[in-house]
Amino acid sequence: MIDYRTVRVALLGAGSVGSQVARLLLANGDELAARVGAKLELAGIAVRNVDAERDVDLPRELLTTDAESLIVGADIVIELMGGIEPARTHILSALNSGADVITGNKALLAAHGPELFAQAEQVGAEIYYEAAVAAAIPIIRPLRDSLAGDNIHRILAIVNGSTNFILDRMDRFGDSMEDAQKTAFELGFLEADPTLDVGGYDAAQKATILASLAFHSSIDPDGVYREGIDTITAEQIDAARKAGYVIKLLAITERITAEDGTAGVSARVYPALVSREHPLAAVHGGNNAVFVEAEAAGPLMFYGAGAGGVQTASAVLGDLVSAARRHVAGG
Ligand code: HSE
Repeated sequence: MIDYRTVRVALLGAGSVGSQVARLLLANGDELAARVGAKLELAGIAVRNVDAERDVDLPRELLTTDAESLIVGADIVIELMGGIEPARTHILSALNSGADVITGNKALLAAHGPELFAQAEQVGAEIYYEAAVAAAIPIIRPLRDSLAGDNIHRILAIVNGSTNFILDRMDRFGDSMEDAQKTAFELGFLEADPTLDVGGYDAAQKATILASLAFHSSIDPDGVYREGIDTITAEQIDAARKAGYVIKLLAITERITAEDGTAGVSARVYPALVSREHPLAAVHGGNNAVFVEAEAAGPLMFYGAGAGGVQTASAVLGDLVSAARRHVAGG
């Protein structure tokens, strides 16, 4: 048995993603240790209510309501609470105490990304966020690392599974908007309050993150044009089909040049007509796809499950392995 050093991991949040991260980390600890060259010790899981019902049985002794005490002494902090506060405060505490941070919190990154990344840079820490866009689909690292030497012209993306599911039902099964939303809700694709998905807000947050990565600049989330799918009718879907198109909620980001010659970045979300010949037209159900047009690489499409607890946990654990390797390499 190899005597590995220990990397202490604090998990904040045990919802559908957090509980799967904890389960996989506890179940696959030995394999992950061999990949990293260090034992990943789950030091604790901060939750709002220790006695709440969970999809996954988690060891009672790991649960705590005291997130800040857990953060102190952790080498890596995984934030999966969602929302702006207290997630923002906890991430700042983690960075200031020298920990690297992993988060899947797209709303927080879209609204406060520049502040958090500046703080991370100042203290020499890293923030990993593969789970924030398109769940299990690797897209953050490809944009940040693999394509960093290329010039990205444009990204066309289906980054909201719920709305893709609804529009796909209407297109392929002839559902009305109301029936499609009802089915989406029954199958767990829609939240109790569907506004974030249906109104395009979730996709706009993800567009902000993709745009800032692809074009190496910070994007004002209020400058992202947003239109939801709520006004789309069965008649419009039908007319689009007859003309050879399908309606998809697209997040689009590209470089633009303003009339006065200044360069900028456009990010927008709206229901768009997509030719049936385009690969994005074949993205069915709750799946996501990110279609990247790059100068040297040409067109690339990243496709797969864009939501789901265990799928999103895969992205978080990938970030955890990266962060732990960095920790081990740094001594
Ligand atoms: N509500 C989101 C979606 C969940 O439907 O894509 C994943 O961010």
